[in-house]
Amino acid sequence: MTKHILITGANRGVGLALVDAYLADGWQVYACCRQPEQATALQQRRQAHPTLTLLALDVTDHTAITALSRQLADVSLDLLINNAGYYGPKGYGFGNTDADEWREVLEVNTIAPLKLAEAFYPQLSRPQPGIIACLSSKVGSMTENTSGGGYIYRSSKAALNSVVKSLSNDLLPQGIKTVALHPGWVQTEMGGPNALISTSTAATGLKQVLDSLEAHQSGSFLDYQGNLIPW
Ligand SMILES: NC(=O)c1ccc[n+]([C@@H]2O[C@H](COP(=O)([O-])OP(=O)(O)OC[C@H]3O[C@@H](n4cnc5c(N)ncnc54)[C@H](OP(=O)(O)O)[C@@H]3O)[C@@H](O)[C@H]2O)c1
Repeated sequence: MTKHILITGANRGVGLALVDAYLADGWQVYACCRQPEQATALQQRRQAHPTLTLLALDVTDHTAITALSRQLADVSLDLLINNAGYYGPKGYGFGNTDADEWREVLEVNTIAPLKLAEAFYPQLSRPQPGIIACLSSKVGSMTENTSGGGYIYRSSKAALNSVVKSLSNDLLPQGIKTVALHPGWVQTEMGGPNALISTSTAATGLKQVLDSLEAHQSGSFLDYQGNLIPW
């Protein structure tokens, strides 16, 4: 039976590579992005893949999230990937934190994943319970934070990890697994040119981790190679 995935921030970077990985495996892909009419890479893939549906979604627009869930009321989802992310300002240090930017980063990285999980809970519940995967980051780990700085992005992903843990505790009894994933340091606009791995390496690895995800791994923090990351 065809499997169904909804992914946010699908127009570029890791999100686009995840779209490719799931299309290649025959999934029906609901690819969300802010401006589908400008998402040329997704539009090109649409030509070759009738199993790709492009949808408009700014993940900070909670009314739009609810409307999208209503639009997809009859769809069953095997997987929701909360991929959309925003780093916020780079290069600032202690003493120069922009609180407005911090709020914006929290909207995208922390609040939106939970709002999407809440909105698409019905679709993730049937006929088989699905998976909620949230793109976190190793820099959100307390243990890994030995260098300081990065207050805004680090705190947004640490808070996302907390959301993942609560989702897992709340939803695993119904069979829905939730996981926080670190994609590696990836060559994207966010990762920059010095990053270590390509988007396809990250996406292939993340898909393998999700394909073999077991119930006991729900509520954990895993990298794209399946290694456990300490909180
Ligand atoms: N790259 C890395 O090394 C790395 C490492 C650790 C974790 N991550 C995480 O992995 C995920 C993907 O990262 P990436 O490197 O692919 O980032 P990216 O290249 O900067 O792409 C970010 C994506 O998120 C979308 N987005 C941002 N704000 C949005 C909003 N309000 N509504 C909907 N979409 C929005 C962007 O859409 P627009 O094109 O419309 O801006 C874009 O599609 C993120 O959650 C990131 O934090 C990345």
